[in-house]
Amino acid sequence: MSSTATNPATIPGSLRGGVTNAAHQPDLTGNLAPVADEIDVADLAVTGELPAALRGSFVRNGPNPLYEPIGRYNMLDGDGMVHGITIADGRASYRNRWVRSRGLLAEVALGRAIYPGLGNVMDFPDRSLTGDAGPVKNVANTHVIRHAGKWLALWEGGLPTEITPELDTVGEHDFGGRLRGSMTAHPRIDPRTGELLCFAYSLFPPYLRYFVVDATGELVHSVELDLPAPVMMHDFVITEDHAVFLDSPIVFNIESLGHGPMVSWRPENGTRLGVMPRRGGASDITWYEIEPGHVQHFWSGWADGDRIELCGSRFDAPDFGIDSEAPLDVSVADPTPGRPARFWIDLARGDAGWEPIDDLGGDFNRINDAYNGVRVRWLYLSAFIQPGRRIGDFDTIVKYDETDGSRTLWTAGPHGHVGETVFAADPDGTAEDDGWLLNVVYDDQRDASDLVVLDARDVAAGPVATVHLPRRVPFGFHANWFAAD
Ligand SMILES: [Fe+2]
Repeated sequence: MSSTATNPATIPGSLRGGVTNAAHQPDLTGNLAPVADEIDVADLAVTGELPAALRGSFVRNGPNPLYEPIGRYNMLDGDGMVHGITIADGRASYRNRWVRSRGLLAEVALGRAIYPGLGNVMDFPDRSLTGDAGPVKNVANTHVIRHAGKWLALWEGGLPTEITPELDTVGEHDFGGRLRGSMTAHPRIDPRTGELLCFAYSLFPPYLRYFVVDATGELVHSVELDLPAPVMMHDFVITEDHAVFLDSPIVFNIESLGHGPMVSWRPENGTRLGVMPRRGGASDITWYEIEPGHVQHFWSGWADGDRIELCGSRFDAPDFGIDSEAPLDVSVADPTPGRPARFWIDLARGDAGWEPIDDLGGDFNRINDAYNGVRVRWLYLSAFIQPGRRIGDFDTIVKYDETDGSRTLWTAGPHGHVGETVFAADPDGTAEDDGWLLNVVYDDQRDASDLVVLDARDVAAGPVATVHLPRRVPFGFHANWFAAD
C-alpha cells in the first residue's frame, strides 16, 4: 500500500487562519465561522464522570477555511479541520489540525485562497499558482474513518487523505494506485469481514463506480455501474450479501456548471434502489423503482430472507442548491427536512417501497457500527424539536427503537446545538446499546463547545459526563470514535 505522500518539507508546523468574512457570507457567520489556529490542551475540565471503560479518540471533521474565500462560499467548500478529543483514565485532551491538502499547501505558499468554491468550480486556478496541486482542491472535510490501520479523512470529490492518530497529514491515499478519481465520504465497514465497501460518483461516464477494499487495506474488487444521469449520491448500505444503492434525482447540471445551480432536483427522472451482490458487477445489479425522494444518510441495511430493509432520513424534495449566483441574503433554510423512514425491497416479488418511522426532522443517522449490515434495533439521530431552527441546526439527540418507532431523547435546550452522535461501545458490554453516545454540543450563549457523553442505555437521563472543550468547535460534518487498542 502506498500513499501519495505530501512532501513533509512543505508542511508548515502550524497554520494561522485569516478569515474575517468581510463579504458577510452566511456560511461563515455564527458558529460556522472558522477557528484561526491549532492548539493542544490536556486535562480538560469535566462535569460528571467519564466512564473508566471509555478509552479512545473522538474525532470530528468539518470545514474551516484558512483564507478568505474567493466568491460565494458554501460550507461544503471549507478546508477540512479535524478536532480530536482523546479520553483515557477519566481524563480528556483536545487537539485540532487542518488537513494539509495539496491545494491548501499551494494556497499557503501564496498566503491567500486561489481555489474557488463549488459554486464556481469551473473557474480553475492557473497552473502557475497551483503547481502540481491540481485544478480542484481536495478539502478532505467530510468524514474520518479508521480502516486497516489507517486514519482517512474523506471528501466525496477526491481521494481519501491519510492522517495520523496525532492528526498530522500524511497525504492522499490511492490504494497503491488502484483508485483513480474519488471515493465516497460514506463507505461501509463490514465488522464481520473487515472489508471497506465503497462507491464513487462522477459527473462524466461512467457515472458510478463500486469497489471493495479487503481487511488488509488492499483494493480487491472494482467495477463500473451504469446510471441514466450523473447524480449526487452521498451514502449507501450493505447487507451481509449485498450492496444497495439509491439512485435519486439530484442531477448535476453539466451544461451550466459554474454559472448557476450545480444540481437540480428532477423527480421526473424517477428514484430507484439498486441491489447487487457484494462482489458483483454491472450485469448483476437489479433496480427497483420507488416514489421520488432522497436520502442523504442511511442508518443501515440488512437482509431478512428475500426482504431487504434499509433505514434513513428521507427528503420528499431536497434543496441542495449550490449556486454561485444566488443572492447572499437569502436563507438556505429548507422547509422540508429529512424524516426517519424505512425502505424495503422484496427480492422474490420484485418490488420496493417505503414507510415513515417518525415525523421528526433530523439527520446524522448513526448506529452501533458493530451492527453494520445486519439487523439493528437502536437508531440514533440528531433532530430539531424547537421551532425556527434551520435545517441542520439540531438541538436534540434521539434514540429510536426500530421495531416500533418509539423514541427517547435528550435535548440540549434553546441555546444548544448538537452535532453528529457517535456510538462508543462499552468493551465490557454485550447488548447492542451497551455503550455511550458522544456528541459535540455548541452553546450559543457561552460561545463554547462541550463533548457530551450520554449513556446509550438511558439517553433521557442526560449526560453522564460533559467535557468542556478549550474552544468552540465550528459546525461541521461527520465524526467517529476510534477505541484504544
Ligand atoms: Fe454525510
